[in-house]
Amino acid sequence: MKTKSIFTILFCILALAAFGDNGKKAELAFIKENTAFAQQQLSSMIHALPNPDTANIETMVPYSIDSNGTLVTCKKYWWTIGFFPGSLWKLYELSGDKQWLNQAQRWTNRLEYLKTFTDNHDLGFMVYCSFGNALRLAPKPHYKEIIIESARSLSTRFNPKTAVIKSWNSYKGWDGLTKCNYPVIIDNMMNLELLCEASKMSNNPTFQSIAVTHANTTLKNHFRADYSSYHVVDYDTITGEVKHRITSQGYSDNSTWARGQAWAIYGYTMMYRETQKAEYLKAASGAADYFLSHLPEDGIPWWDFNVGQAGYTPDKNSYALHNPQKIKDASAAAITCSALFELGELAGKPTYTKAAIRMLHTLASPAYRAESGKNSNFILMHCVGSFAHNSNVDTPLDYADYYFLESLTRYKKLLEKK
Ligand code: GLY
Repeated sequence: MKTKSIFTILFCILALAAFGDNGKKAELAFIKENTAFAQQQLSSMIHALPNPDTANIETMVPYSIDSNGTLVTCKKYWWTIGFFPGSLWKLYELSGDKQWLNQAQRWTNRLEYLKTFTDNHDLGFMVYCSFGNALRLAPKPHYKEIIIESARSLSTRFNPKTAVIKSWNSYKGWDGLTKCNYPVIIDNMMNLELLCEASKMSNNPTFQSIAVTHANTTLKNHFRADYSSYHVVDYDTITGEVKHRITSQGYSDNSTWARGQAWAIYGYTMMYRETQKAEYLKAASGAADYFLSHLPEDGIPWWDFNVGQAGYTPDKNSYALHNPQKIKDASAAAITCSALFELGELAGKPTYTKAAIRMLHTLASPAYRAESGKNSNFILMHCVGSFAHNSNVDTPLDYADYYFLESLTRYKKLLEKK
């Protein structure tokens, strides 16, 4: 224990030294300024939203903006519905201001209905970003029950034959015909934290065992030798073998979709924290090394690492075929930034922390952070939901803001340890 804390202190000193001459004080001021900005944006956003205690759920949780710049809210079971409540929890964590606790509880409490949802794999995102943060920052026994019941619901999608959780019930290709009957997407790694936590809370090892099995199968089938990732892997439920490796949101079947790679880094970092399995640390580091060594100059990725490159051909019906545009995706950067803060510490590698600090400063610069009162009061600009579907291209997105705020909390904790 003592050795571990000496190691952590040493690591923090190295990490901060690596950042150059920006001292701890200046960096804490940077976090404070970004926290104040985020509070201002989200206060204005809330001001324009209906009363969360009584409103129709589909009108009250911000997601993005449409082509007219009008705010778009989440449908009842949209995968991102937990991020806005999660951002309110992060603001409470960063500011200590009880008004954010109150708002976070109000938005979170409305999501209890999700706990029985079994129609896709996204429950981890939906429940863990909302109730997971709630349990950590203002614990109540009822939150535990919701997380355990959600873990039970998510576990119904696990099949011992394929040894993975099914992401979507099926997947139709661009021609409208069913292409995959057991699709698993790399994003699914993010749902495993809910299972790991539910095992600890319930003393039931089954949830964690499903998470570990899923992570092992994904490690075997979703990566190339250089740790770049495929987006979708389809399984045969009779043999358990892989049938296809394709993309849905990426540029082409053989390309590396930037946000998918971000989910891989975050997912395996988190699974290493939960299990201490060396192969997960290796996967997280390998995926991070790929991401960091393929970035354009400003350190924020294009929406796909292979967009427009020879040897990568989009499907004939993908929007990307005739529009091979290099559009930045700040959401992939924000997710990776948060993951790199944790990975740097777990791997004892200041280079990851240094990369996270650089990414955070770039995201907070005028190139990516909105002007006060603009951007429909979202924090970050220039994200891509799904370029291939021409959906949310170069817009703000609720999850980019969530992981930006999480990056600030992780950086603040790191500085305060020193
Ligand atoms: N399915 C999650 C994402 O679009 O990243």
